[in-house]
Amino acid sequence: MDLRDQLAEHLVFLSELGVTGLSRDPKWRQRADDAWNAASAADMSPAVAVSTGAGGEALADIRADIGDCTRCKLCKAGRTHIVFGVGHPNADLMFVGEAPGQDEDIQGIPFVGRAGQLLTKIIESIGLKRDEVYIANVIKCRPPGNRNPDPDEVATCEPFLFRQIASIQPKVIVALGKFAAQTLLKTQDPISKLRGRVYKHGDAQLIATFHPAFLLRSPDRKRDVWEDMKKVRSILRE
Ligand code: URA
Repeated sequence: MDLRDQLAEHLVFLSELGVTGLSRDPKWRQRADDAWNAASAADMSPAVAVSTGAGGEALADIRADIGDCTRCKLCKAGRTHIVFGVGHPNADLMFVGEAPGQDEDIQGIPFVGRAGQLLTKIIESIGLKRDEVYIANVIKCRPPGNRNPDPDEVATCEPFLFRQIASIQPKVIVALGKFAAQTLLKTQDPISKLRGRVYKHGDAQLIATFHPAFLLRSPDRKRDVWEDMKKVRSILRE
Protein backbone atom coordinates (compact mmCIF):
# COMPACT_ATOMS: atom_id res chain seq x y z
CA MET A 1 0.00 0.00 0.00
CA ASP A 2 1.52 3.36 -0.95
CA LEU A 3 1.62 6.36 1.37
CA ARG A 4 -1.45 7.96 -0.22
CA ASP A 5 -3.55 4.80 0.31
CA GLN A 6 -2.27 4.45 3.89
CA LEU A 7 -3.22 8.06 4.58
CA ALA A 8 -6.66 7.55 3.02
CA GLU A 9 -7.22 4.43 5.13
CA HIS A 10 -6.16 6.27 8.29
CA LEU A 11 -8.53 9.16 7.55
CA VAL A 12 -11.44 6.77 6.95
CA PHE A 13 -10.66 5.13 10.29
CA LEU A 14 -10.57 8.48 12.08
CA SER A 15 -13.88 9.49 10.56
CA GLU A 16 -15.34 6.15 11.74
CA LEU A 17 -14.17 7.12 15.23
CA GLY A 18 -16.15 10.32 14.88
CA VAL A 19 -13.18 12.64 14.22
CA THR A 20 -14.47 15.66 12.33
CA GLY A 21 -11.21 17.55 11.78
CA LEU A 22 -7.45 17.25 12.08
CA SER A 23 -4.98 19.77 13.43
CA ARG A 24 -1.84 20.78 11.54
CA ASP A 25 -0.51 22.17 14.82
CA PRO A 26 2.89 20.48 15.49
CA LYS A 27 1.89 20.21 19.18
CA TRP A 28 -0.28 17.25 18.04
CA ARG A 29 2.90 15.15 18.05
CA GLN A 30 4.72 16.93 20.83
CA ARG A 31 4.95 14.03 23.26
CA ALA A 32 7.14 11.94 20.96
CA ASP A 33 9.48 14.90 20.51
CA ASP A 34 9.55 15.46 24.27
CA ALA A 35 10.52 11.83 24.81
CA TRP A 36 13.30 12.25 22.26
CA ASN A 37 14.55 15.48 23.85
CA ALA A 38 14.50 14.00 27.36
CA ALA A 39 16.43 10.98 26.18
CA SER A 40 18.97 13.11 24.26
CA ALA A 41 19.44 15.31 27.33
CA ALA A 42 20.39 12.17 29.24
CA ASP A 43 22.71 11.28 26.33
CA MET A 44 20.67 8.21 25.58
CA SER A 45 18.60 7.37 22.52
CA PRO A 46 14.89 6.67 23.17
CA ALA A 47 15.44 3.11 21.93
CA VAL A 48 18.01 2.55 24.68
CA ALA A 49 15.79 4.28 27.23
CA VAL A 50 12.97 1.88 26.33
CA SER A 51 14.92 -1.36 26.53
CA THR A 52 16.96 -0.74 29.67
CA GLY A 53 16.78 1.33 32.83
CA ALA A 54 15.23 0.80 36.24
CA GLY A 55 11.68 0.54 34.84
CA GLY A 56 12.68 -2.21 32.41
CA GLU A 57 14.54 -4.10 35.13
CA ALA A 58 11.59 -3.88 37.55
CA LEU A 59 9.29 -5.33 34.88
CA ALA A 60 11.83 -8.05 34.14
CA ASP A 61 11.80 -8.95 37.86
CA ILE A 62 7.99 -9.27 37.82
CA ARG A 63 8.20 -11.47 34.72
CA ALA A 64 10.85 -13.59 36.42
CA ASP A 65 8.56 -14.02 39.46
CA ILE A 66 5.78 -15.30 37.21
CA GLY A 67 8.23 -17.89 35.86
CA ASP A 68 6.72 -20.90 34.09
CA CYS A 69 3.54 -20.30 36.07
CA THR A 70 1.42 -23.16 37.40
CA ARG A 71 -0.62 -21.07 39.88
CA CYS A 72 -3.97 -21.64 38.12
CA LYS A 73 -5.60 -24.17 35.81
CA LEU A 74 -4.84 -22.12 32.66
CA CYS A 75 -1.29 -23.55 32.68
CA LYS A 76 -2.78 -26.91 31.64
CA ALA A 77 -5.34 -25.51 29.19
CA GLY A 78 -3.18 -25.53 26.06
CA ARG A 79 -1.08 -22.46 26.79
CA THR A 80 1.73 -21.77 24.28
CA HIS A 81 3.11 -18.58 25.84
CA ILE A 82 2.59 -16.54 28.99
CA VAL A 83 1.68 -13.09 27.61
CA PHE A 84 3.25 -10.65 30.04
CA GLY A 85 3.01 -7.21 28.44
CA VAL A 86 4.74 -4.99 25.93
CA GLY A 87 5.75 -1.36 25.55
CA HIS A 88 7.55 1.48 27.26
CA PRO A 89 8.47 0.59 30.88
CA ASN A 90 7.77 4.16 32.03
CA ALA A 91 4.84 4.93 29.74
CA ASP A 92 2.47 7.75 30.65
CA LEU A 93 -0.34 5.72 29.11
CA MET A 94 -1.12 2.08 29.87
CA PHE A 95 -3.82 -0.09 28.31
CA VAL A 96 -5.20 -3.09 30.18
CA GLY A 97 -7.13 -5.77 28.31
CA GLU A 98 -8.76 -9.01 29.40
CA ALA A 99 -6.68 -12.04 28.41
CA PRO A 100 -4.64 -13.27 25.44
CA GLY A 101 -6.51 -14.71 22.47
CA GLN A 102 -5.16 -17.26 20.01
CA ASP A 103 -2.81 -14.91 18.13
CA GLU A 104 -1.42 -13.51 21.38
CA ASP A 105 -0.92 -17.00 22.82
CA ILE A 106 1.05 -18.00 19.72
CA GLN A 107 3.21 -14.86 19.58
CA GLY A 108 3.51 -14.15 23.32
CA ILE A 109 2.59 -10.48 22.73
CA PRO A 110 -0.68 -8.81 23.80
CA PHE A 111 -3.12 -7.39 21.28
CA VAL A 112 -1.59 -8.61 18.01
CA GLY A 113 -4.74 -10.13 16.45
CA ARG A 114 -7.63 -8.26 14.81
CA ALA A 115 -8.64 -6.54 18.04
CA GLY A 116 -4.99 -5.64 18.55
CA GLN A 117 -4.74 -4.04 15.12
CA LEU A 118 -7.74 -1.92 16.02
CA LEU A 119 -6.12 -1.02 19.36
CA THR A 120 -2.99 0.10 17.47
CA LYS A 121 -5.16 2.42 15.36
CA ILE A 122 -6.85 3.75 18.50
CA ILE A 123 -3.44 4.53 20.01
CA GLU A 124 -2.33 6.23 16.79
CA SER A 125 -5.56 8.24 16.67
CA ILE A 126 -4.27 10.32 19.61
CA GLY A 127 -0.84 10.83 18.06
CA LEU A 128 1.04 8.08 19.91
CA LYS A 129 2.85 4.98 18.73
CA ARG A 130 2.42 1.50 20.20
CA ASP A 131 5.94 1.52 21.60
CA GLU A 132 5.27 4.75 23.52
CA VAL A 133 2.52 3.14 25.61
CA TYR A 134 2.40 -0.05 27.69
CA ILE A 135 -0.09 -2.83 26.94
CA ALA A 136 -0.95 -5.69 29.30
CA ASN A 137 -3.85 -7.93 30.26
CA VAL A 138 -5.51 -8.90 33.54
CA ILE A 139 -4.88 -12.58 32.75
CA LYS A 140 -1.53 -13.63 31.30
CA CYS A 141 -2.60 -16.99 29.80
CA ARG A 142 -5.22 -17.73 27.16
CA PRO A 143 -8.51 -19.12 28.49
CA PRO A 144 -9.46 -22.11 26.29
CA GLY A 145 -11.71 -21.16 23.38
CA ASN A 146 -11.43 -17.50 24.49
CA ARG A 147 -13.95 -18.12 27.26
CA ASN A 148 -14.32 -15.46 29.96
CA PRO A 149 -11.71 -15.65 32.72
CA ASP A 150 -12.95 -17.42 35.87
CA PRO A 151 -12.92 -15.42 39.14
CA ASP A 152 -10.19 -17.66 40.61
CA GLU A 153 -8.01 -17.02 37.53
CA VAL A 154 -8.45 -13.25 37.89
CA ALA A 155 -7.69 -13.45 41.64
CA THR A 156 -4.53 -15.47 40.99
CA CYS A 157 -3.19 -13.31 38.16
CA GLU A 158 -4.21 -9.75 39.13
CA PRO A 159 -1.34 -9.20 41.62
CA PHE A 160 1.08 -9.29 38.68
CA LEU A 161 -0.93 -6.63 36.83
CA PHE A 162 -0.95 -4.46 39.96
CA ARG A 163 2.83 -4.86 40.22
CA GLN A 164 3.20 -3.88 36.55
CA ILE A 165 1.13 -0.74 37.17
CA ALA A 166 3.15 0.13 40.29
CA SER A 167 6.38 -0.25 38.31
CA ILE A 168 5.29 1.69 35.21
CA GLN A 169 3.50 4.43 37.17
CA PRO A 170 1.39 5.56 34.22
CA LYS A 171 -0.40 8.88 34.32
CA VAL A 172 -3.46 7.34 32.65
CA ILE A 173 -4.74 3.76 32.59
CA VAL A 174 -7.28 2.78 29.94
CA ALA A 175 -9.28 -0.27 30.99
CA LEU A 176 -10.43 -2.06 27.85
CA GLY A 177 -13.77 -3.74 28.44
CA LYS A 178 -15.67 -5.19 31.35
CA PHE A 179 -13.03 -7.50 32.87
CA ALA A 180 -10.26 -4.93 33.00
CA ALA A 181 -12.58 -2.20 34.29
CA GLN A 182 -14.18 -4.43 36.93
CA THR A 183 -10.81 -5.80 38.09
CA LEU A 184 -9.16 -2.39 38.35
CA LEU A 185 -12.15 -0.61 39.88
CA LYS A 186 -13.20 -3.51 42.14
CA THR A 187 -16.81 -3.36 41.03
CA GLN A 188 -19.34 -5.57 39.26
CA ASP A 189 -20.90 -2.66 37.34
CA PRO A 190 -21.25 -3.19 33.57
CA ILE A 191 -18.86 -1.39 31.22
CA SER A 192 -21.72 0.69 29.79
CA LYS A 193 -22.13 2.20 33.28
CA LEU A 194 -18.40 2.53 33.99
CA ARG A 195 -17.37 4.42 30.86
CA GLY A 196 -17.81 8.16 30.48
CA ARG A 197 -16.06 9.30 33.65
CA VAL A 198 -12.55 9.54 35.07
CA TYR A 199 -11.57 7.44 38.10
CA LYS A 200 -8.50 7.36 40.32
CA HIS A 201 -6.38 4.21 40.51
CA GLY A 202 -3.56 4.94 42.93
CA ASP A 203 -1.76 7.95 41.47
CA ALA A 204 -3.10 7.27 37.97
CA GLN A 205 -6.31 8.45 36.39
CA LEU A 206 -8.36 5.62 34.94
CA ILE A 207 -10.74 5.67 32.01
CA ALA A 208 -12.84 2.65 31.14
CA THR A 209 -13.86 2.14 27.54
CA PHE A 210 -15.19 -0.55 25.23
CA HIS A 211 -12.91 -3.45 24.30
CA PRO A 212 -11.65 -3.35 20.69
CA ALA A 213 -13.06 -6.86 20.10
CA PHE A 214 -16.51 -5.48 20.99
CA LEU A 215 -15.93 -2.60 18.54
CA LEU A 216 -15.27 -5.13 15.77
CA ARG A 217 -18.78 -6.49 16.42
CA SER A 218 -20.40 -3.11 17.14
CA PRO A 219 -18.57 -0.49 15.03
CA ASP A 220 -21.21 2.13 15.84
CA ARG A 221 -19.66 2.35 19.35
CA LYS A 222 -16.31 3.60 17.95
CA ARG A 223 -17.58 7.13 18.41
CA ASP A 224 -17.86 6.53 22.20
CA VAL A 225 -14.29 5.23 22.27
CA TRP A 226 -13.11 8.31 20.40
CA GLU A 227 -14.78 10.49 23.06
CA ASP A 228 -12.94 8.48 25.75
CA MET A 229 -9.63 8.77 23.88
CA LYS A 230 -9.99 12.55 23.53
CA LYS A 231 -10.31 12.67 27.32
CA VAL A 232 -7.17 10.51 27.63
CA ARG A 233 -5.31 12.84 25.29
CA SER A 234 -6.34 15.91 27.23
CA ILE A 235 -5.21 14.40 30.59
CA LEU A 236 -1.87 13.43 29.04
CA ARG A 237 -1.37 17.01 27.90
CA GLU A 238 -2.14 18.52 31.35
N1 URA B 1 -8.03 -9.32 23.85
C1 URA B 1 -7.49 -8.98 25.04
O1 URA B 1 -8.18 -8.62 25.98
N2 URA B 1 -6.18 -9.03 25.14
C2 URA B 1 -5.37 -9.38 24.14
O2 URA B 1 -4.14 -9.39 24.34
C3 URA B 1 -5.96 -9.71 22.91
C4 URA B 1 -7.29 -9.67 22.78
